[in-house]
Amino acid sequence: MSNVFVVAVDGPAGSGKSSVSKAAAKQLGFAYLDTGAAYRALAWYLDDAGIDGGNTALVIASLPGFDYRIGTDPDEYFVLVGSTEVTDAIREPRISALVSQVARVPEVRTFVNNLFRTIIASTEKPGIVVEGRDITTVVAPDAPVRILLTASEEVRAARRGAELTGDAAKTAAEALAKRDRADSAVTEFMTAAEGVYTLDSTHLDFPATIAAVVERVHNGLATP
Ligand code: DC
Repeated sequence: MSNVFVVAVDGPAGSGKSSVSKAAAKQLGFAYLDTGAAYRALAWYLDDAGIDGGNTALVIASLPGFDYRIGTDPDEYFVLVGSTEVTDAIREPRISALVSQVARVPEVRTFVNNLFRTIIASTEKPGIVVEGRDITTVVAPDAPVRILLTASEEVRAARRGAELTGDAAKTAAEALAKRDRADSAVTEFMTAAEGVYTLDSTHLDFPATIAAVVERVHNGLATP
């Protein structure tokens, strides 16, 4: 591993970890790695190829053909599968509903974790903010700054469905709770592992949450 300073951020869906991590990376002049995008891109790739994500043997057999690239510049975020840009497509509810079953396959996790370690090691910036579900525990357990970003279920659902009302907001909240339950069976991200700092953003606005992350990184950089 190179000397890149790794900031590991985990948290549940809707905790704001993607936007907070990206903004913190910008302020710090660091790179930014969204690990969930790899699982989403794989779910998109399988769906596009007509492969049932529930068929574990087929999913594993598809991994060598999965050609994925992600932008780690927080100002130029993109996700490619082969030559197709899937940056927006992987956020669609259809893919969100498919991704958990792909992410629970151990061979998939080993495969993408190797990609992440290669990306982290080849970072040209002085540091990288890596966000996901198992970054503080599996991908980068030795990171000098490890944060679990949480918020109450109500606040997370509200942030996700801020523009929704009535039945649509209810459906969004239910989908979020369902995905958390499925994801929790695979990775433990609702409670912090030993040595991981819990940042509860329930009562913090966006700038205050970013500032809390940046402050921990500055403290970490100051500690030899
Ligand atoms: O953070 P996200 O919603 O984009 O994550 C997409 C899916 O990938 C989510 O269902 C959980 C899974 N995931 C994971 O299992 N491990 C990670 N490090 C990141 C995401």
